[in-house]
Amino acid sequence: MRKPIIAGNWKMFKTIAEADSFVQHLPVVEQEVDVVVCAPFTALFSLTEPLRAKNIALGAQNVHWESEGAFTGEVSPGMLAEIGVKYVIIGHSERRAYFNETDETVNRKVRSALDARLMPIVCVGENLSVREAGQTSTIVNGQITAALSELSAEQLNQIVIAYEPIWAIGTGQTATAEEANEVIKAIRGCIAEQFGSQWAEQVRIQYGGSVNPQNIQGFMSQSDIDGALVGGASLTPDSFIALVKGAA
Ligand code: G3P
Repeated sequence: MRKPIIAGNWKMFKTIAEADSFVQHLPVVEQEVDVVVCAPFTALFSLTEPLRAKNIALGAQNVHWESEGAFTGEVSPGMLAEIGVKYVIIGHSERRAYFNETDETVNRKVRSALDARLMPIVCVGENLSVREAGQTSTIVNGQITAALSELSAEQLNQIVIAYEPIWAIGTGQTATAEEANEVIKAIRGCIAEQFGSQWAEQVRIQYGGSVNPQNIQGFMSQSDIDGALVGGASLTPDSFIALVKGAA
């Protein structure tokens, strides 16, 4: 049985004061769903204790692969772990599109994050032209194979995958729950080919892209969708609470 996981990706939203106020409005989360808030770097440290009190895990949105060095502007996996970060989003399509992240850098970040005992939320997804050309699974499975390269099967237990079709992000347009489930099944099949099906069955795979309190249950009712990575609808406490309830 895979435990559902709901993660909010705040992107570049919320000051420290806004983040603190958000958490104050949340109830203590029940054990049946893992809940994560991925905040901007500046708000992470101040959120550690308030989120812990609500049974919510702290997540970052990016990390570098080196443990230290002359890398101006970067933050290492160990630095995140030190302040209580448990999860880190790696390879989000916005980072691939605007900050030159590649399949290779995604893989390096995944391996370094795991070494620091962070749990990567690895993002994959196709753009509209790939979708229209019927190449979704080919492209997405290529991203998966690259991201998980050189990992051991045991490390898969420490990883979450997020399937986020780029055309569905922030657009209000979602894949249907059935379409998302098909792609996610194919991702699981790809992981099974690399590591064996007993390991693939344990990996949690989220859907992301215009998820909201109205559509979350449709996604969660699918056989292979284990949660959601949510942008816009994770920004207000009421909506975030409704998403968590919808996943339980
Ligand atoms: O990482 C979450 C994301 O990219 C989806 O954003 O606003 O469509 O839920 P949104």
